[in-house]
Amino acid sequence: MAFTVITVLAGCGADADKSSDSASQAAESVSIGFSQLGAESDWRSSNSMSMRSTFTRDKGYDLIFEDGQQKQSNQITAIRSFIQQGVDYIVLAPVTQDGWDSVLGEAKEAGIPVIIVDRMVEVSDDSLFSCWVGSDFHLEGLKACEWLRQYTTAQGIAPSDLHIVDIQGTIGSSAQIGRTAGLEEYAARYGWDLREETTGDFTQAKGREVMAQMLVTYNNINVVYCENDNEALGAIEAIEAAGKHAGGDIRNGDILVLSFDGVNETALEYCMDGTIACIVECNPLHGPRVENIIKTLESGGTPDKLEYVNEDIFTSHKAVRFLDIDGESYPVKILSNGENSEPEVISDNNDASVKTAEGEGDLVYEPDSLGALAMEYSIEDLLTVYAVNMIEDGKYSDYQGDIGEIIEAYKNVDLNGDGKSDKIYRSGKGYEFEFSDGTGFKTGDYSASPNEGEIIEFIDMNEDNVDEILIAHYTFGTGGPGIWDTAMYSYVDGNWKTFPIIDRDGKVYSFELIEYISERTGKPYEDGSVRFASVSIDEAGNGIDLLVDFGHKDGPSQVYDYEDCVLFSNYDPDFSNYTLLSHGTDEIINTWPLDISGESVSISAQDQYAVNLFMSNFSEQGFGDYCGWNADKLAHFAMEWMKANKLTELDCSHGVYAMTHSDINRIVQKYFNTNLEESDFYSLGNNNDYYGSLDKFDGETYYCEPVADGEMYRNNRFSIVSGMQKINTDHGDTFRLDFSVYGLDTDLYDEKGIGKEQYSLNAEMAVSKANENILYQAYEGMAIVDRSPDGSFSLRYYRIYNE
Ligand code: AHR
Repeated sequence: MAFTVITVLAGCGADADKSSDSASQAAESVSIGFSQLGAESDWRSSNSMSMRSTFTRDKGYDLIFEDGQQKQSNQITAIRSFIQQGVDYIVLAPVTQDGWDSVLGEAKEAGIPVIIVDRMVEVSDDSLFSCWVGSDFHLEGLKACEWLRQYTTAQGIAPSDLHIVDIQGTIGSSAQIGRTAGLEEYAARYGWDLREETTGDFTQAKGREVMAQMLVTYNNINVVYCENDNEALGAIEAIEAAGKHAGGDIRNGDILVLSFDGVNETALEYCMDGTIACIVECNPLHGPRVENIIKTLESGGTPDKLEYVNEDIFTSHKAVRFLDIDGESYPVKILSNGENSEPEVISDNNDASVKTAEGEGDLVYEPDSLGALAMEYSIEDLLTVYAVNMIEDGKYSDYQGDIGEIIEAYKNVDLNGDGKSDKIYRSGKGYEFEFSDGTGFKTGDYSASPNEGEIIEFIDMNEDNVDEILIAHYTFGTGGPGIWDTAMYSYVDGNWKTFPIIDRDGKVYSFELIEYISERTGKPYEDGSVRFASVSIDEAGNGIDLLVDFGHKDGPSQVYDYEDCVLFSNYDPDFSNYTLLSHGTDEIINTWPLDISGESVSISAQDQYAVNLFMSNFSEQGFGDYCGWNADKLAHFAMEWMKANKLTELDCSHGVYAMTHSDINRIVQKYFNTNLEESDFYSLGNNNDYYGSLDKFDGETYYCEPVADGEMYRNNRFSIVSGMQKINTDHGDTFRLDFSVYGLDTDLYDEKGIGKEQYSLNAEMAVSKANENILYQAYEGMAIVDRSPDGSFSLRYYRIYNE
């Protein structure tokens, strides 16, 4: 899998002024002595790089970098030399917590502010340092343990059957102290069998060595808690050398590996394929944070004394979605390499076959590390951190020809996986891709202002051995940097196809994204109404990761409010679930529908009524308002409801269709990520038979929908299933369900009171009402229901918009 990110800055006009600027900056540069503790891990290298790339001469800094080689004595010597040199600031990444009082006292006496970064110091007087920025290591430990607790509980493993060894970090470092404490607390609270704690010094070699030893000493280890990724890699080597398997299936002899950091690429790949069960992120990108502190101090301000960084939890297992720790809820980020579409059980007591692997469509919204970073960084910081290999101030702007000649990473790149090199040319203002087999494509022209450029990424997202190529056009303009004119190119059926994402006028080409933007802003979407801060292929190659800025975009007082969205998260091999919306016309231009059709399956008018009835009832209860559901989501919910109730066995004996509160919440949680309390049901409508109610039968609380009524009260929209086909696939049955969403004009509803009768329409009747102009057809949709041989199924939605 090739994965490259390159930024080509077009234009070079900005350069001319730069040399005189840097001369004046050098005169007034800020000198910083940075005592880094060592180079023991990938985390550390990344942290050093973040500091070096932030404090550059260009930006007016003079950075003196000293590597302490894991020895506190070396760090003390370095600090003394910084004092002697009279630096403006001392930045210390301390190897251990204790033993800093006297040298920091000397810095204080010399009047040099000290900023502590990453690990903490334990000093008698906290005025010895100005401030600290880093991770909450104790919380990191608690997150790993809470994940383990929930994961193993879901598998029915007794706490006393967890036989755990801890490969600790450097003893006395706050990273070790916090993470070890988290584990010890959980072990004591839940009765886990914590067999041994031994240091691995945060290194791969030591991790391997101590794990090998512990595997000899204990024959029942089933969990190894590695206090960083490098130790985890070493531990995995030892596990494999001992003929054992690292993975999440403890019951069948796996050793479950937990880790921290999420920086090393192999560790992340292991996390995606399940070799490492869970990684709690430890974020190393402190350079820009320290810079902000220095800017605050320079301007006479007082930075926060302690600044904790937000961090994610990564896993490929879907069983645990949220971690609740001390009253806070932390979302778990599920990584996937596209191979593991592990089905998720959403109902475990009613019907063992009720499983689904898919959610609401092809767009998911979840804050991820990039989103979290955006809250902390300025957009400029983000771009300099993430726009890798920025090519020196656009000096290749006028270059025409093979980019591989001047940018190493493009040289001899094999994009189509045939072992031969392909070429990327800069041609005019665009790019030409020429593949070894003679195929290729040319992009349109990009605007080539001095402050603009492109980021090009490629990764084989659909694993057909040909990379998908993303070209994102950036500007670093006065209103702040942003992206537009961005598309993905994919090799589909022997041709290169373009999948536009945002065009040069800032129009968005994904309906899902547009819908999300209007939901998020509460206003109809208008082109250019929000900005896009960055776009990239997400780490797992599953989708296109867009960072959307919903903030105000004027001038320096810009307020940023970012959210991270992933497009195509459930991509198909040919991206056919990419719904492309045309702007400016009502015409449908899209890749819809999936080109599948099969044997018709008859669907009775009765079933059509049933779907519509349920849908209408939910709508009437105001569920739509409450959860922000659309008509098709309601249809989805209705189908799930019917399935959970085993449609044919509906209990109508009380004049209602009933479902337990906990079953409803399973479904609501799954599709709408919310929960309904009993009081929510009451507040949605009057608690009587007419509107639905909560009732107790046999000691269980049921939510009951009346069999009658069910007008389109709230949104005047409803879906009608119009047909069903059975598609033969080699893995099992696939059904295609077509539905249409109809709307009812509110004036007509009010005037004639015709709403109440619509709930019981079947497709034919709906069409005739539409012909009479009583209803209008809002859009059509299709649901794909995939049934696997094991009885599990997935359900996905696709829509055509013709409004
Ligand atoms: O202090 C942070 C820790 O130090 C990281 O988790 C580890 O990898 C590093 O060496």
